[in-house]
Order: sequence, then structure tokens, then C-alpha cells
Amino acid sequence: MTIRAPKGTDDIVAPTSRIWRRLLRVWDELTERYGYDVVFTPLFEATELFARGSGEDTEIVQKQMYTFIDKGGRSLTLRPEGTPSVVRAHQHADFHKVAYWGPMFRYERPQAGRRRQFYQLGVEYLGTGSPISDAEVIDLGHRYLQDVGVPDVNVALNSIGDPECRPTYQRALRAYLRAREDQLCEDSRARIDTNPMRVLDCKVCGPLLTDAPTPVEYLCEACTLHYEQVKAELAGLGVPFVEEPHLVRGLDYYTRTAFEYVATRLDAAQNAVGGGGRYDGLSEAIGGPPLEGVGLALGLDRIVLAMGPQKAAPALDVFVVVTTRALWPSARGLVADLRRGGYRVDYEPEDRSVKAQFKAASRRGAGKVLVVGDEWKAGKVAARDMVTGEQWEIPIEEVSEWLA
Ligand code: HAM
Repeated sequence: MTIRAPKGTDDIVAPTSRIWRRLLRVWDELTERYGYDVVFTPLFEATELFARGSGEDTEIVQKQMYTFIDKGGRSLTLRPEGTPSVVRAHQHADFHKVAYWGPMFRYERPQAGRRRQFYQLGVEYLGTGSPISDAEVIDLGHRYLQDVGVPDVNVALNSIGDPECRPTYQRALRAYLRAREDQLCEDSRARIDTNPMRVLDCKVCGPLLTDAPTPVEYLCEACTLHYEQVKAELAGLGVPFVEEPHLVRGLDYYTRTAFEYVATRLDAAQNAVGGGGRYDGLSEAIGGPPLEGVGLALGLDRIVLAMGPQKAAPALDVFVVVTTRALWPSARGLVADLRRGGYRVDYEPEDRSVKAQFKAASRRGAGKVLVVGDEWKAGKVAARDMVTGEQWEIPIEEVSEWLA
């Protein structure tokens, strides 16, 4: 009996994995161009980090964490998100713009775009409260989605205030929710007192509360100014956005800016291909020094879904065929030279017929084939274009030119 991948997890194999590889490459290059360093943090953490960081009262911490006791009796959790770890890792660092990618784990009810192991691409911009940094992060996510070709993405933007103005808003929201208590689900009723903004994020009750008071109506002067500056900066960058006054996020650490990238072609329940916001109190919540920050995470699995069916690009530039094993040392040298020259090159390691080697070449999607045969002694190889079927004899020193 074969053992399957656990429920809600996936084996991402070629050709699909080729699309993933491209998406990771674009992410790496783009974040580098925006001045982001890269960071790798543990896949498992002290449970406490997420309880205090992501928020004791969130769906993620209450219901979705993979928590276990290790052989040393410690409570550990597979990371459901990257932000608390990345903030922890930079509390005493002097570089403050970092990018990351990797698997995250949430015990969810699996469906397309909602996995138990899923992959995020993220950045955190730490050490500044400037609205310019909020706008840069939003722009970066938007740029990425454009560059990789995710169609029909809206940037939804909101400000949810800070510890100064939020209590006033929460009072107003509580009063509103109490007046409708009988229409709310059990979880939401329990949260009216502890964390009323979570109710707006409830999948069942949230959509019914369209006339609830919004955080923006209650922003203090400093938060209002910050929000105005973020919007002006986004306009200056040419990033289109839609203000969503009821947008709240599924994590508790956000202050001021909150945003999501919505791929309108996906089902509403899974159409957020990314999200983020500012979290000026997170560092202190996990026991560190004050450290302002803003960041985002994009969901790779959802991006691939939103891109729709894709033809994965060929994995090889050229396949080297050898007519007889005696010529293998020459072929091996050609393969090595071409690889050093930056080409993606492969060959058949078994002693197979020329026909079988050509079959392997087309199975691998190689656009071109070079045949090392009798002409090698005369300093030549046969070169075939696999698309047109044309074949030439070319001098070995002109192979690079032909490939280019
Ligand atoms: P989040 O909204 O929880 O934010 O997740 C970000 C993105 O990860 C979502 O928009 C979605 O695309 C993807 N995602 C989340 N859960 C799943 C799942 N079960 N299956 C597939 N994709 C999923 C955060 O995680 C924050 N750490 C973002 C952030 C960074 N805020 C500030 N800095």
C-alpha cells in the first residue's frame, strides 16, 4: 500500500514545480531590487511565540496550530506564519528589510487554496513607522503579482487605528454588536467583550454586519495623518487601491495600516492571495524592545491557482545525444562546457539507442539537441531544432552561438 501525503498537503512535482521555481526566482530578484535581505527562521517555535505574537484570541492560535510536546517536555508549534519569528530574529539587528519564503502550517479544513501546509512569500520592513514604508511594502506585493501575471487583483486598504484610538472604536463596535447579539454565532458572541474586531472577520457573521461602525471613523489625529500619507504615497507610486472600511485581518498584532490583495477570479472564501499591515507593538508583545514594522505575506498556492492553467516553460535548453559510448568522454566535456556557459543541459546516462535518446530529449521538453557522433573527429556536431525538425552540422566552437 502506498502512503499518501497527509490530508491538506501536496507533493508539488514537475511540471507544476517548474512554475513554482519561476515564482520563487522572481520573488528573490524583486525583493533584492527593493533592497531586502533574506532571512531563514525555524519551522517550529515555542508555542508561546504565536500565542503572544499572533494573538491568543485568533482563529489561528485557538484552532489551527500544530502543537506538540517534544522529548524534552517543551510545547512547540509548527509555524502558522512567519512574522513573529522574523521580528524576534531582528530585535537586535541593524539591518531591517528582510524577505523570506517557505512552508507554513495551519490545521484548516482543506480545499483548493486552503491547505494545511502552504507556502508564503513575505517581507518585513522593520525599524521605521514612516508611511513611506507601508506604501513600499504594498507596492512590492502589487508589483510581484503584476510581474508573475496574476490577473484581476484588487488592493484592499484600511486603517484600524492604534492603542490610542482603538478603545473608543471598540466601545462603539461593542454597543453595535450587543444590539445584534441574537444574530451572531456562538464564537462571535463570546468575542464581543474580549475582541470585538474579530467578529467582523468571522466568516459567518462578518458579511451580515455591513453597517457596523468602521475603525476609520474613530482614528486619532496621528493615525488619520498616517493613513492619509499612505494613500498619497500609493497614489504617487501609481498603485491602485480600494478603501475597505470593514477590512480587519485574522491576526491581532496589526496597528494602523491593514491590506489585502484580492484575486477576484477566485472563490470569495479563498480569494486573498496576500495580506499584511503594520504591527508596531508586536516586538514588545513577544518580550522584546520597541520595534516598529510593516510587512506582507503572499500565498504561493493561491497565486498559482489565480494564475489559471499555465504551460510550464521547458526545463532544458539543450539535450546532448551520443551515437556510441566510445564518444561519451567527448560528450561529457561538451555538457560540462555548456553548463559552465550558463545553459541548461542534460543527457541520457544509460547506454541507449540514438532514437531512445531523442525520445528522452523531447520528453524533457528540450528545444534543441546536439549529437556527438562521427563528425566529432572533424570538430563538428549535428544540431537539431526540435521544433522545426531542421538539422545542421556545425563546428563545435559555434555551438554557443547556435544556442543563443
Ligand atoms: P495571513 O493573511 O494569515 O497573513 O496570510 C497571508 C496569505 O497566506 C493569505 O493571504 C493567503 O494567500 C495565504 N494563506 C493563509 N492561509 C493559507 C492556507 N491555509 N492555505 C493556503 N494559503 C494560505 C500572515 O500570515 C501575516 N504573517 C502577513 C504579514 C506579514 N503581516 C505582516 N507581515
